Amino acid sequence: KKVKIAAPATVANLVCGFDILGLCLHDPYDIMEVELLQEKKIIVKSADGYPLPEDPALNTAGAPLLEMLKELDEPIGFSVIIHKRIKPGSGVGSSAASAAGAVVAANHLLGNRFSKEELVQFAMFGEKVASGVKHADNITPCIFGGVTLIRSIFPLDIVPLSSPPLYVTVIHPQIEVKTADARAILKQQIQLKDAIKQWGNIAGLVAGFLKNDYDLIGRSLEDHLIEPVRSILIPGFDDLKAACKQAGALGGGISGSGPSIFMLSKEKATAGKVEDAMKKIYTDLGIDFHTYLTTIN
Ligand code: HSE
Repeated sequence: KKVKIAAPATVANLVCGFDILGLCLHDPYDIMEVELLQEKKIIVKSADGYPLPEDPALNTAGAPLLEMLKELDEPIGFSVIIHKRIKPGSGVGSSAASAAGAVVAANHLLGNRFSKEELVQFAMFGEKVASGVKHADNITPCIFGGVTLIRSIFPLDIVPLSSPPLYVTVIHPQIEVKTADARAILKQQIQLKDAIKQWGNIAGLVAGFLKNDYDLIGRSLEDHLIEPVRSILIPGFDDLKAACKQAGALGGGISGSGPSIFMLSKEKATAGKVEDAMKKIYTDLGIDFHTYLTTIN
């Protein structure tokens, strides 16, 4: 038995919600071909020649499948072929797509024995391999779709959120930022006054999604904790953000741990202007880039 699936890119954090908020994108996505094997074995291969660790335990798709097999205790396994379209280290959930795609496809081949929450639990082992930390803010929207809140990881408490239609513009400067590195530079202590601003924004953003309040969404896309530290890794960050706001974006910021930057817009025409503004900044700076104009999936 075989299945072929699309594993979409995701935007984690949504500016103020570090490790707890994320949304699923229509584009880009990986294609994964997963086959059920009649022996206890996990094989993961890249269709495009990306070097992948041979040991499945060290692979972002393999580690979650090994966890799934532990639960099953049956003489079965999986072979996975990944067509990588989401660049690793780009900040739009490349590792999460491999991890989430593998378990969703495997679960389908098993007749959907596991719940979505259980799939998130398995897939988090892939994020542990990729970044050293279990975080679920890319995996959860990849599996659930839409906008998701992860109220807690231990125990896992997922809250899918409704949202008004939104256009998402993403620019990826062609540099790689490893999530592990982007986490290592973060401050471990924060000031109460900054925390107050941060949870005001998180609450505002969630309320904005639920109330279809575009202005509230825009006002709440502020980050007083992570962005000031991580933005130094991204060329032209402040100029790019200012130009996007001027072009009419509701707001945005670093996508996941970067270096991609994402912006939300109410109208498609505005999102197009935002994309042009992004392109101009990086063209003027002489930085190679790739952009996506897409919607929430
Ligand atoms: N929440 C994670 C981080 C997402 O910002 O480190 C990584 O893609």
